[in-house]
Amino acid sequence: MLKPMWITLACTLAFSALGTATAAEPIVIKFSHVVAEQTPKGQGALMFKKLVDERLAGKVKVEVYPNSTLYGDDKELEALLLGEVQIIARSLAKFDQYTKSVQLFDLPFLFNDIAAVDRFQRSPEGQKLLKSMESKNITGLAYWHNGMKQLSANKPLRTPEDARGLAFRIQTSAVLQEQFQAVGAKAQPMIFSVVYQALRTGLVNGTENTYSNFYNQKLNEVQKYVTESNHGILDYMLITTSDFWNGLPPDIRSELDKIVVESTAHANQEAERFNQQDKQHVLDAKTTEIITLTPEQRNAWREKMKPVWAKFEQEIGPDLIKAAEASNKAQ
Ligand code: LMR
Repeated sequence: MLKPMWITLACTLAFSALGTATAAEPIVIKFSHVVAEQTPKGQGALMFKKLVDERLAGKVKVEVYPNSTLYGDDKELEALLLGEVQIIARSLAKFDQYTKSVQLFDLPFLFNDIAAVDRFQRSPEGQKLLKSMESKNITGLAYWHNGMKQLSANKPLRTPEDARGLAFRIQTSAVLQEQFQAVGAKAQPMIFSVVYQALRTGLVNGTENTYSNFYNQKLNEVQKYVTESNHGILDYMLITTSDFWNGLPPDIRSELDKIVVESTAHANQEAERFNQQDKQHVLDAKTTEIITLTPEQRNAWREKMKPVWAKFEQEIGPDLIKAAEASNKAQ
């Protein structure tokens, strides 16, 4: 005799409910980023995955997608907010749509070196910025270093006048736009994955980036000169959505919080070494001359670029700028 339809349906539902309860699927964390694996961010992401595999096996599974293979920097934040990915480490230059205060990190010649950046990021003011996008469902978990930015072009850039009339690729940032306009150059915002082609085809003449990104994107093949200007920084905020992070079971979230701290320490310890190593790789490749500026030459760049601060002072907050400047003095 045929069972009535409702009994079959009820049995199926009961079994599938039981299935979910007994064999819970691990929580999947997709970690998408745009750089190569042999970079500070690439290594930080892999360390995060390794620690999760060791400590939360069966409960959490991390999938890392490097090199814009899943999303480019134009789509990654949208994907995060839509729940398509759960963690990204986005350049601090790419948040101005969501918060004006994080633009602080783009101000040219604000930080003397990465140690000063580190001191600021650890300060109460720096930590507060991690939470500045909570109302938009974005929560900052940590800062990850890449390093100091250098200028590059196909002509030697020694004085700010050398940059006049050139087009530079920038990350999407109003501050960086003004920074290049301040030296009479044109700034062209562009996603990271197309920079090599844009330089190769002459769509833009130059760019700014860390040695790590410069070498790993093979930009040395299409740029004859790097000027070691250390005029700004390229760092990241490791972010997730508040909904996702707060919705995790408390024991898993507290383990993940510890893993974030450890993978941050790893990424940040390695960042400077990666940049120095990639500087050496550029030298070894003999494609690109690295120009060292005299203190006077570097000062001329500072004089031209620093007036940009005034344009953003109100948006960013004068006190925040003061706190960042104070971090240049080692305690
Ligand atoms: C860039 O666009 O140059 C960087 O933000 C890429 C990155 O994530 O380091």
